[in-house]
Amino acid sequence: MSIIKQLEQLGIKAQTDIKQADSGDVLEKLRVGLLGKKGALTSILRGLKELSVEEKREVGGLANRLKGTIEESIATKREALSGGSGGSTIDYTLPGKPHAHGHRHLVTLVMDEFISIFQRMGFEIADGPEIETDHYNFGALNFPDDHPARDEHDTFYVDGGLLLRTHTSNVQIREFEKRTPPVKIIAPGRVFRNESVNARSFCVFHQVEGFLVDENVTFGDLKGALEAFCYEYFEEGVNLRFRPSFFPFTEPSAEVDVQCFLCSGKGCTLCKYEGWLEILGCGMIDPEVFRSVGYDSEKYTGYAFGVGIERMALLKYRINDIRLLYENDARFIRQFR
Ligand code: DAH
Repeated sequence: MSIIKQLEQLGIKAQTDIKQADSGDVLEKLRVGLLGKKGALTSILRGLKELSVEEKREVGGLANRLKGTIEESIATKREALSGGSGGSTIDYTLPGKPHAHGHRHLVTLVMDEFISIFQRMGFEIADGPEIETDHYNFGALNFPDDHPARDEHDTFYVDGGLLLRTHTSNVQIREFEKRTPPVKIIAPGRVFRNESVNARSFCVFHQVEGFLVDENVTFGDLKGALEAFCYEYFEEGVNLRFRPSFFPFTEPSAEVDVQCFLCSGKGCTLCKYEGWLEILGCGMIDPEVFRSVGYDSEKYTGYAFGVGIERMALLKYRINDIRLLYENDARFIRQFR
């Protein structure tokens, strides 16, 4: 058998033996048997002197590479036998630790759902400032200076005669000033009220304001839009009730209730035995508002509505305490993805 052939076979056998070695001692014996002074590789190389210079070079190179490979395999095996990298006890075959993925908060989920529903109905999205002047939050919306409706808003005042907006209705005025009808907009955002915190109210919450101004807009259009929205958000065919109400910036004004879906209107603890759950305020935009932004109230009519996001989230997901939304208890938050 040629020396080259012998070397090749030695290599193959060496790898099998190294793989099967089950202790450091066995491995050391193997090493000596292969690479030691009287080892197999050494004795094959003894035959080298019978070869020509050219053959010597070729066989010598091969033998050196083989020696390197065997040494490497032995070292790797030794490490494996001693229990992994540098003798440490890490098991690299264990599955990795899973990384927790974040997700949208329930308030964001509901807000995004509102936005998507209204976008499909052709509403544009607008944004407005959270720090506002009295004019945009109250004055231009037809709240007279001494009107009790202002008290209901429990306003946070900040330096410089400014305030934290108490509702998203400020965006109505800001957008009307920038545009001429037709306008069809929703404005989602954060609002602030200096109220005591309890299961039903929080000092910071979110609303979506909606408004449409054009020629010949009627209360029927408002009802149709809100019905379409509620059918999407709650379920097709939910019963709605429009109750007369008052807001300074709408006339006539209404509050909208959905029939309690827990008791189907029979009366239960959720609806406080009313059979109905209040969900939003709305109305036809008061001509006084149009006057304050320079719209022709003889030519244009419009509707507006304001929905509280948290309230709608609590109702749909049967959550009985608004504070849960802001305590950041992951066990609660993770339930809504
Ligand atoms: N801004 C009102 C509030 O926060 C909600 C509201 C009622 C908005 C009627 C409207 C509306 O646009 O027409 O209490």
